[in-house]
Amino acid sequence: MTDRHPCRPEIADARDPAALARGGELLRAGGLVAFPTETVYGLAADATDARAVARIFEAKRRPSFNPLISHCADADSAFAHGRFAHARFEERARALAHAFWPGPLTLVVPRAPDSDIAALTGAGLDTLALRVPGGDVARRLIEQVGRPVAAPSANRSGSISPTTARHVADSLGRAVDLILDGGACTVGVESTVLDVCGDRPALLRPGGLPREELEAVAGPLLDPARDPDAPASPGQLASHYAPRARLRLNATDPTADEALLAFGPDVPDGAKITANLSPTGDLREAAANLFAQLHALDRADVRGIAAMPVPETGLGAAINDRLSRAAAPRD
Ligand code: TXA
Ligand code: MG
Repeated sequence: MTDRHPCRPEIADARDPAALARGGELLRAGGLVAFPTETVYGLAADATDARAVARIFEAKRRPSFNPLISHCADADSAFAHGRFAHARFEERARALAHAFWPGPLTLVVPRAPDSDIAALTGAGLDTLALRVPGGDVARRLIEQVGRPVAAPSANRSGSISPTTARHVADSLGRAVDLILDGGACTVGVESTVLDVCGDRPALLRPGGLPREELEAVAGPLLDPARDPDAPASPGQLASHYAPRARLRLNATDPTADEALLAFGPDVPDGAKITANLSPTGDLREAAANLFAQLHALDRADVRGIAAMPVPETGLGAAINDRLSRAAAPRD
């Protein structure tokens, strides 16, 4: 059964195999599909497609590029995107996955250099948040896509997380291509986020999996709210977004020893190397390219990176937020 209305998104019954197949097709083609997990409804895009992921930030009006969780169908396909510093860290992460996946647990792991998850999905960090969500609909949808699925909660930024298809429709409207209705979510709060990159796992966000259950498997957890040695949440870590090369903002006059991060059709000459966020001035395309281009320019042998001005509207605000963090003075 499908519900259509000119100013409302399409809602389809998630039990209908044809609806799930269509959700998979839309995602493979770069679309946005809301789907139920056991925690909350997620707003999905193909995690390997930076343009599709940029649409998530735009649809949610998320003010900056907070990294997204990549959802996988099973633990093996999730861990293919991680590379741990020590085998014992990986063993511990796998034990947690074995105990709690599928389920309301997100593991932050070191990003494998060959992972095809888009840089934008992980907000340019060298870690990735991975989760195998519970519920048949989520698993079958991810299997249909055949790639990891990036998904924050399917609501406008700053509003309450959705636990029914109706909540999603009310919050996102036509910004989403299809909503798969699988009824009310059973857990109802977002997943617990646990950083397992280092010696001791750190609780980054309390959530649907209680701390006591985690500690029974992983031992005592570091708590960033209480422990100064624990990793902070990524929004606060300006240096994580910073390239090695010095970044200069609002630049229109690049020098011969600089790389130019351009935007729009009018690109000044003179830079040693240029990458254009969007030759047509499309902010969605620019958002999709930002982290990957910063990485690429940073690998070039240049004295610094000159970034052209980007308008402050729409996704431009998030782009400028990240560029100014990257340009901020460092210790
Ligand atoms: O239950 C959930 O987790 C839902 C469903 C849809 O799966 N998703 C969700 O996503 O709550 P979101 O985007 O609202 O929250 C993701 C959280 C954010 O706090 C983000 O900062 C954190 O995960 N996160 C993502 N990648 C990270 C990373 N590499 N390091 C540390 N934290 C990360
Ligand atoms: Mg959220």
